[in-house]
Order: sequence, then C-alpha cells, then structure tokens
Amino acid sequence: MTTAQLIDGKAIAKAKRTEMKTVVAQMKAEGTVPGLAVVLVGENPASMSYVKGKIRDCKEVGIYSELIRFPVSVSEPELLEKIGELNERDDIHGILVQLPLPKQISERKVIQTISPEKDVDGFHPISLGRLMTKQDGFVPCTPAGIMDMLKAVHVSIAGKHVVIVGRSNIVGKPASQLFLNHDATVTICHSRTTPLAHYTKQADILVVAVGRAGLIGAEDIKPGAVVIDVGMNRNKNGKLVGDVEFEEVGEKASFITPVPGGVGPMTRVMLLENTIKAAKIRNRGRKINAQ
Ligand code: GUN
Repeated sequence: MTTAQLIDGKAIAKAKRTEMKTVVAQMKAEGTVPGLAVVLVGENPASMSYVKGKIRDCKEVGIYSELIRFPVSVSEPELLEKIGELNERDDIHGILVQLPLPKQISERKVIQTISPEKDVDGFHPISLGRLMTKQDGFVPCTPAGIMDMLKAVHVSIAGKHVVIVGRSNIVGKPASQLFLNHDATVTICHSRTTPLAHYTKQADILVVAVGRAGLIGAEDIKPGAVVIDVGMNRNKNGKLVGDVEFEEVGEKASFITPVPGGVGPMTRVMLLENTIKAAKIRNRGRKINAQ
C-alpha cells in the first residue's frame, strides 16, 4: 500500500491541456494559430511513438503541427537547410528535432541551428544560458513539467534541499538551475557519486533521472521526502517502470510520481506550453528579453 500522495501527472497535464484549448481558441480569434514543426529522422520506434504523441497533443489543443520526416541516411547539410527554412516561416513558432539523431549528424549543430526564438525544447545554449542567468526564455520540457507538478500539489521549494540524480543536458542540469532559481539548495549526483545513498537520504525533494530500474529503494530516502521519478525503463516482464522502487518508496515518501502517468505526460504538455509562448512572443512582435 502506498501511503504517499500520488502526484498524478496525467491528470495535471489533462487539466492544463483543457486550459490551453481556451487560450489557443482566443489566439485564433485574434488571428494567430500557434504552429509547431516536428522533425523526425529515421524510424526509431520509440522516437516515432513520442512524435505521434506530440502531434496528437497539438491536435487536441488546436495547435497547428507539421511532421517533417527524413530517411535515416539524410545528410547533415540537408537537415540544417530544412531547419533554416523552418526558422524563416511565419506560421511555425516552434521547432522540435526529435533526438537521438543518426551518427552522421551532429546533434550540437542541429540544436544550434534552431532559432533561439523557436527553441521550444529549450536545448539551445542560448536558452540554457538564459535559464542559468534567470532570464525569461524556453525551459526544457521535463524540468519545467516537474516544477508545474510540484506547484499543482502545493509543494514549496524555497529553502528545501533538492537532490538530483543524473546530470544530462536535457533533465539533470537544467532542473538543477530551475530549482536554484526557485531558491532551493541543490545537490547534483551522477554515476561517479559515492556513496549515492549518502546524498539521496538528505533530500527533501529527490529527482531521479538516470534510466536504471530499481536504482532508488526505501533505504535511500528520508522519511517524508518528495520523490520525482523521471526514469523510463522496461523491466524483465516488459512493463514500463521508473528508476524508483515505487511500492516500497511510496510507503516512506510524502509524495511520489508514478511511472507511467507521472513526469512523462507533464513533459509532453510543456512542449505545448512552450509553443504557445513562442507564438505569443512572435505575435507581440518582439524578441525574448527585448527592451
Ligand atoms: N528525445 C527524447 N526526449 C526528447 C525531447 O524532449 N526532445 C527531443 N527533441 N528529443 C527527445
């Protein structure tokens, strides 16, 4: 029996999409339809499934979406040229290139070619620099979604010790900056942190984003901790599980996110929020941080 309160990302995301429908309808009435271009290279089944979900979400809230597909053999110049075209288009406010990309293509070059004003993934160094210096900009979707779900269940952040396990550019590192911007004390752990439990046991809020099933058990947390599980793994029975032993940790934590139905739906919904934000900024005819 889980005694912790479940943070129902699926329900929070659904409520957010309902609100977004109204916002998008209003924008349409005023002459702007937010537009998202999704670029998919190759036929990686996981990527195809993510992209399908993103397009479905756009349809649901009334955002225009365009799927641009390339074969796995596409050359880097060809892909960069397409991004350049999308940067110029007035009907496209957000550009997402699904990762990972095939070996012949530099992800760094692709990310840096996307206009920072259309960087709805928040992966561009300019977006990350803005986050680091607490300027308005696009925040990567997973960290932004985590913040929103904590807000939805009224978990305060200021003064809390937040321990983040995982230092990826798309989750761990931006999440650490975002929590710091919200006045938390932040510790970042990674594969070389020893002993990991020494740190995780100190967390008021524990964010786990590694990608290893069973990494965090009840013995690794402080009683009453808030536990956010970003992991997405298949266990030996083919079931989708996170990085946290949900049942046992759920008996010791105060709040916990399930997998599936926790962080994943929030990540998806933040992409819509960033696309709407990009369209609003463009609509106002100004750039982010313009005076
Ligand atoms: N691949 C896995 N997650 C993501 C994401 O959030 N954005 C992009 N572009 N690719 C991904």
